Amino acid sequence: MSDVVLDRVAKHYGATVAVESMSLRIGSGELVALLGPSGCGKTTTLRMVGGFVPLSSGLITVGGRDVSALPPSRRNMGFVFQNYALFPHMTVAQNVAFGLEMRKLGRAEIETRVTGALERVRLGAFRDRYPRQLSGGQQQRVALARALVVEPDVLLLDEPLSNLDASLRQEMKIEIRQLQQALGLTTIFVTHDQDEAMSTADRMVLMHRGRVEQAGPPAEVYSRPRSAFAAGFLGVANLVPGRMTRMDTGSDTGRGDGFVTRAGPVLRLRGHRSIQGDCVLALRGEEVTLRTGQPAGDENALSGRVALATFHGVAIEYHVETEAGLRLVARVPAPGVGGPEVMAHGAEVLACWAPDAGVLVAET
Ligand SMILES: Nc1ncnc2c1ncn2[C@@H]1O[C@H](COP(=O)(O)OP(=O)(O)OP(=O)(O)O)[C@@H](O)[C@H]1O
Ligand SMILES: [Mg+2]
Repeated sequence: MSDVVLDRVAKHYGATVAVESMSLRIGSGELVALLGPSGCGKTTTLRMVGGFVPLSSGLITVGGRDVSALPPSRRNMGFVFQNYALFPHMTVAQNVAFGLEMRKLGRAEIETRVTGALERVRLGAFRDRYPRQLSGGQQQRVALARALVVEPDVLLLDEPLSNLDASLRQEMKIEIRQLQQALGLTTIFVTHDQDEAMSTADRMVLMHRGRVEQAGPPAEVYSRPRSAFAAGFLGVANLVPGRMTRMDTGSDTGRGDGFVTRAGPVLRLRGHRSIQGDCVLALRGEEVTLRTGQPAGDENALSGRVALATFHGVAIEYHVETEAGLRLVARVPAPGVGGPEVMAHGAEVLACWAPDAGVLVAET
């Protein structure tokens, strides 16, 4: 068992609080992604787990053993640092072999493992080069090979894909996940990219100002953000501030809730959790449809004009300036995948969404 438990872990640098209080359990063989904006404490947390940064307070255990005071060399962890940290005077192969030599493995065994690790990251042909002769992405892959080659109990990855191009990033992401699952490696993967976190992790931990903002399986965190911060960070395009009110929606739909937006219009809500006072309706662009003509049933419908359109391959995002004063984003399938023809700037549209769409979240 190599589950990792952080119990109220904190790190202060003088008056700066890098990590305020992190409590978290990473199960044996689980891949947890630490996600959050720059400066929220991801790297500091990871470095505390690895033993490179001493804790100000709290406790870290691995497989039930308190490792808080152990040096990195006694934690059997593999790391990929945010800045690679390769030894500049060693070749690629020597860099990868370093950890194995420290463990006093035999020549032949080291050679086999180094060759295997370099093949895995597609750098077999680069083994005799020095780090300065490699691109950033290649250095990152050497760092990954070096972390994996020691067969660690715990793998710590700090933005391991940040310097790779889009296709290599996609490949390496899958590669890391497959290796991690095949080896049953307990892994903490730091990233600020929500797609990367969602597509690789068993669980996602969103950090904000040195604390856990929200944690859970990607699908749950994605569909049920609990705060405006979480919703915004997870790419919810429409964050509409306002407050809930009871309202009569008419005989055909019965009573429901209303949402008095700060911008003015009152929206229909159905099936949302109740939040007292100021709150935010978090509505994904995918939940908003654009059309012309009349609204149907009890849906919300605001008329407006297309102010901006951005192309995203399978979708087009339209920013609609509504007459009611709300600016809304609608994510519509692109014409190439069965969506409607592209709408021109200034086109008149009706932005519509169902009363049960979106989630209500706290304002903070
Ligand atoms: N050695 C240090 N001395 C003082 N402050 C530090 C030190 N290391 C980190 N900090 C501060 O602690 C906070 C958290 O930093 P950290 O590197 O953990 O953030 P991060 O989430 O990894 O950000 P990024 O996404 O930019 O890498 C930041 O405000 C940072 O300035
Ligand atoms: Mg960092």
